[in-house]
Amino acid sequence: MEIIGTVVSGTGEGSYFMSLEIYKEKFREKLGFEPFPGTLNLKISEEDTKSINDLEDAMGIIKGSKGFGDVKFLRAQLNGEIDGAILFPVKTQHSSKTLEFVAREKLRKKLKLEDGDVATLKIE
Ligand code: CDP
Repeated sequence: MEIIGTVVSGTGEGSYFMSLEIYKEKFREKLGFEPFPGTLNLKISEEDTKSINDLEDAMGIIKGSKGFGDVKFLRAQLNGEIDGAILFPVKTQHSSKTLEFVAREKLRKKLKLEDGDVATLKIE
């Protein structure tokens, strides 16, 4: 499945959340890499939001602890070259029309992405 998203800025909560020690080790374990401490937010269509929700059964799960919620994930590839994952925090402030993509590198720098740029996500 391939979907198209638009790069948007969030509130900075992604980097806070990604830097929490309780998740760091688990990300490494489950995703196989230590993500850059932040999430690249991608706004997607209503239709794609529905399609993604239908993939719930295929999602992996990272268990939270100490009051921090579980995080579901789907492996995905950005722009045909960056392997990473889409995270679905079980308690989220975002509407589900925003996807949060994580990868080893800072993508705004590596791919020269700015707000409003379009990116494709491939989900196996
Ligand atoms: O503030 P916001 O929620 O948009 O982002 P963040 O999760 O605090 O991440 C900090 C910055 O790094 C934002 O500009 C993200 O878009 C960016 N980022 C990136 O370029 N590559 C990543 N792999 C993760 C985040």
